[in-house]
Amino acid sequence: MQAVQDKEGIKRYLITLHVNGDSYTRVVKANTLLVNVLRDDLDLTGTKKGCELGDCGSCTVLLEGKPVNSCMVLAVEADGREILTIEGLAQNEKLDQIQEAFVDNAAVQCGYCSSGMIMSAKALLTSNPDPTEQEVREAIAGNLCRCTGYVNIVKAILSCRKSEEGSE
Ligand code: FES
Ligand code: FES
Repeated sequence: MQAVQDKEGIKRYLITLHVNGDSYTRVVKANTLLVNVLRDDLDLTGTKKGCELGDCGSCTVLLEGKPVNSCMVLAVEADGREILTIEGLAQNEKLDQIQEAFVDNAAVQCGYCSSGMIMSAKALLTSNPDPTEQEVREAIAGNLCRCTGYVNIVKAILSCRKSEEGSE
């Protein structure tokens, strides 16, 4: 990572983020948060900011396939790494299976938690295609929802299990 100085002589860093298959090179401060680069600079506002303390999970994105709270990750820490946000899930204008399941199971109310919830579910189902209900609940334990009571969210994620394929 290259350090550069701005006009005021403040040290900044030249980083490249690989987000949803595209690469972006930016100059950031040492304390710039990943969530702020995604939302304010790259205009990827599907990633939500809630607590900014690592407590609510609304800012969850996948960093090298692992769910992270992007308000707890410095942009410089993400330099050169692969990031997947909610905007990267749909392919060829077709929603990801988990996004569809959230719609079909009425797992979205205000929607503020949904993108973080879906990214946590994506990481779980990628590493464990047939999770138990307990494993689903553990995977979304860091994602808080103030609206739904979680029942439909869990139902939606369970409906995406490999063992559910062709069961409709
Ligand atoms: S905004 Fe990042 S965990 Fe709440
Ligand atoms: S749907 Fe409103 S916070 Fe979860």
